[in-house]
Amino acid sequence: MAGSRSPTPEFSPLAVGVDLAPLPAYKAAATAGFDFDGHLAKPLRLHEDLTSGCGGQTWPAGMVLAKHMLRYHQKDLRESRILELGAGGGLVGLAVASGCELENPLYITDQLEMFSLMGHNIELNELQGRVKAAILNWGEALAQEIVDFQPDVILAADCVYFEPAFPLLMTTLSDLLSLCPSATIYFCFKKRRRADMQFLKKAQKAFDVAEVHDEDRPVFSRQGLFLYSFRSKTTNRTGSQIG
Ligand SMILES: C[S@@+](CC[C@H](N)C(=O)[O-])C[C@H]1O[C@@H](n2cnc3c(N)ncnc32)[C@H](O)[C@@H]1O
Repeated sequence: MAGSRSPTPEFSPLAVGVDLAPLPAYKAAATAGFDFDGHLAKPLRLHEDLTSGCGGQTWPAGMVLAKHMLRYHQKDLRESRILELGAGGGLVGLAVASGCELENPLYITDQLEMFSLMGHNIELNELQGRVKAAILNWGEALAQEIVDFQPDVILAADCVYFEPAFPLLMTTLSDLLSLCPSATIYFCFKKRRRADMQFLKKAQKAFDVAEVHDEDRPVFSRQGLFLYSFRSKTTNRTGSQIG
């Protein structure tokens, strides 16, 4: 992939500070089915395996964002160029590719450690050709393949959980909005500590941030989950906005 601008900090779930709310309970490696409360006629099959990293199991914001996209964006993403950041095993991107009407391939991206799990889950759901796995390290220059793809819908679920990675994530979000100023980032996260809201404050300075309507919001906000859209502040967008 393209040259590095800053090193990616290492994350060990075991190194998490004590002020964090508990991470999702540890699960043994297994394959599970997800239909997002009936929003997918054919349940998504997802292999979860924590041996390659914390993204190897599904996180709560991923469940919220996947269900939101299936419920509200089943038909309006046909021409979108969708990319997921920090996809882990690919829960959100694979759900969108399975349940939404898309004409373009969808990228699920993460660090090298998650690459084989993403590929495995693409195959489990027979989504080869419709979903591509790619390595995208936050904070690094975007690979030419992504630059050429020009994503205009970006999905990010539970990517706010490790403070040293916040500036890297901000860089990548900014790079993506510079690359495609009409893009919308769907950003769902769970507040686990005060620093998570600092990330949001930084995002509010840099982007046009709006809370996204979802009829489940009263339920998930009680669990500390937030769903926002981030858009470019500076550019006049052409075409219709979604969300
Ligand atoms: C908490 S998991 C969320 C996984 C999935 N989105 C979900 O909601 O279930 C965060 C993901 O971000 C990825 N990640 C962390 N730091 C990253 C970085 N610097 N560059 C790219 N991905 C990163 C991790 O590998 C992990 O898969």
